[in-house]
Amino acid sequence: MKKIDRETVQKILDTANIVDVVSDFVHLKRRGANYIGLCPFHNERTPSFSVSKAKNICKCFSCGKGGSPVNFIMEHEQLSFNEALRFLAKKYNIEIKEHEMSDKEREEATERESMLAANEFALNHFEHNLNETPDGQAIGLSYFRERGINDVSIKRFRLGYSIDSRDDLLKTATNKGYKEKYLVDTGLCIKNDAGKVYDRFKGRVMYPVFSISGKVVAFGGRTLRKDKDVAKYVNSPESLIYRKSYELYGLYQAKQAIVKKDKCILVEGYMDVISMYQSGIENVVASSGTSLTEGQIRMIHRFTENVTVIYDSDPAGIKASLRGIDMLLAEGLNIKVLLLPDGDDPDSFAQSHTSSELEEYLATHETDFISFKTSILMQGAENDPVQRSRAIADIVRSISVIPNELTRTIYIKECSRSLEIDEKVLTRQVAKYVAERREKDATTQQRQQAAETIEPLLQESTEVHSTQVVDKSNYLSTSSVDKARYFAPYERETLRYVLKYGMLDFCSAVDDEGNTAPMKVIDYIASELINDGMKFTNYDCAITFDAAVGVSQASWAEDLEKYKAQLLIKREKNIAEGEELIRQTALDLADIKVKETQLIEKCDNAYNSELTHYTALYIERALLSDPDDVVRRLATDLVSEKHVLSKVHTKYAQIATEQDQLDELIPKAVFGWKNAIIEWSIKELIAKISTTTDAEQQRELIIRLQEKKNLKKDFDKYLGERVVAPRK
Ligand code: CTP
Ligand code: MN
Repeated sequence: MKKIDRETVQKILDTANIVDVVSDFVHLKRRGANYIGLCPFHNERTPSFSVSKAKNICKCFSCGKGGSPVNFIMEHEQLSFNEALRFLAKKYNIEIKEHEMSDKEREEATERESMLAANEFALNHFEHNLNETPDGQAIGLSYFRERGINDVSIKRFRLGYSIDSRDDLLKTATNKGYKEKYLVDTGLCIKNDAGKVYDRFKGRVMYPVFSISGKVVAFGGRTLRKDKDVAKYVNSPESLIYRKSYELYGLYQAKQAIVKKDKCILVEGYMDVISMYQSGIENVVASSGTSLTEGQIRMIHRFTENVTVIYDSDPAGIKASLRGIDMLLAEGLNIKVLLLPDGDDPDSFAQSHTSSELEEYLATHETDFISFKTSILMQGAENDPVQRSRAIADIVRSISVIPNELTRTIYIKECSRSLEIDEKVLTRQVAKYVAERREKDATTQQRQQAAETIEPLLQESTEVHSTQVVDKSNYLSTSSVDKARYFAPYERETLRYVLKYGMLDFCSAVDDEGNTAPMKVIDYIASELINDGMKFTNYDCAITFDAAVGVSQASWAEDLEKYKAQLLIKREKNIAEGEELIRQTALDLADIKVKETQLIEKCDNAYNSELTHYTALYIERALLSDPDDVVRRLATDLVSEKHVLSKVHTKYAQIATEQDQLDELIPKAVFGWKNAIIEWSIKELIAKISTTTDAEQQRELIIRLQEKKNLKKDFDKYLGERVVAPRK
């Protein structure tokens, strides 16, 4: 295993564009200066996932997840920091410079990485078997040929073959250095009670299952034998890298087509997907035989709101799967249903028709789900009142899960007509179901909220931080938790200025020899803290501040020079182009002079404002992609608060920005914090005074209290009675 060099890391972080990165997983729509889409991290029907191109971060305003490109990939793909970097490098074709890992670095390589590597090896091995070995060609390849699957499809879906032997994969993989443990963990091999290890897949054609980002997380192997004692399919078990209920077969290959067509076609099996794809219907995925799960539905909803479910026309099968469709409705998706002619499944239908016939059939035979369900359930129920009322209740329940009220109303009208039932009766019944469900949701929500308030406390005690600068144990006693909570808004506010404006010049400082030099925002804040002996009481704030100081000292001068050089080249180019234009359009020499002066002024302004922008954001950018989880998370929180991401719309452009008012705002934030410290110590003193019985000690405490109160008066004066209200 190897470790990525620092320069490569920087290049990746500089190149990764948040809109690009997120778009691979979420369908984004433009909204003003930002983009918006359905959050991939929680279940939602109206988009609250916002992507800021300018700040290069994303954030869900509902569940709070998001961050820099690398953070997004880590969360979304459940990757480590380094895995996420490699992922991004691959996306942007950035060559990774790396060095051989030290023993210590090697130990840190994750279990997931090793499992994915084992699967990747197996994928290539099965593919090789199919195409290059006599058995694979004679048995596997000829099977696919017989079923009408062409070479392009075989390649696209990476189909393969497992040799009919008890340890073909095991032997080859271990010879290549893959550990037995990971072959067993992924389910590629099985370890029996006697401790003997052997291959899970033997003499089967192999369908790899890809995660949404293209990693092989599982395999399905189909037997080629006709006898009934052999399981038709053997599938990878669930594992650290494979959660069945979150994967849809074919989604990786289909996702772009789904967005383009704004529709997802849902079928049952591997072969259905492949045959349809081969016939030109590319927006198709399979639930792999089981009924749909909420996780799978959420996956689909990220890409489209329109789903067409294809059924082969086996009535029992249809009835059994109707329930699953209610979940699709509840998710707010528009569901259409398509019934194939008797005896056909999507695979056979696609194989026996031309592409255009298939398209044509799909376009003309879709029906709306509720009408479909009605007709299915009512078949044969006309003369059976009990069956009829049961069917009606079922249909009404389906209507009641639809989130959109207008849509519900339309369905009620339609059902009232087709079922010949009074609209009012249906409306009342639907309303009853809706109310019942709301109540249930509210209870779940309360429970969730309760869990969320406890969670951060629990998390705090399990996080381990790599550097030793901050001693974590100081932050964990109960009294300090209270205290930390009290100071959190002040500390976060101060830290936010460090992140957003840290490297900007703030004021002049005079050194020992009487020279004045500019002092940066971060230096000003650091010196205030040191002078007054202040410390961050919140662990995350403390280490984030340390990280910020580290960034400000590491390679700032060098980075600044590099950036300036780039800007200068750009400025020269703009001036040259501008001058060319002036020469072509100017009236006379005097005109040229005037225009040239204007041009240079314009280019200088552009240069200065870009430089300021770069300087201001320097710390923020670094911390948003910091390897430390705690730092990255807090940085993301601080810079992506709602008021930061949303553009201020104003007709009058002259409203002062925060940046214009830093002179005033930053000292206020620091003093607001100091004020809070005094208030806290006053509270503590009062508590102590009231519990002390020793008169001498009490007198001493009262004197100290008086001092504090005087100090507080000074602060109040400075703060102009108005206590600085930290942003919540
Ligand atoms: N399936 C499974 N295990 C089984 C049977 C089915 O995992 N024992 C899943 C597979 O994903 C399969 C899907 O259910 O693709 C549909 O099953 P089925 O219709 O029996 O198989 P087909 O995919 O149609 O396979 P084929 O056409 O090759 O018979
Ligand atoms: Mn089939």
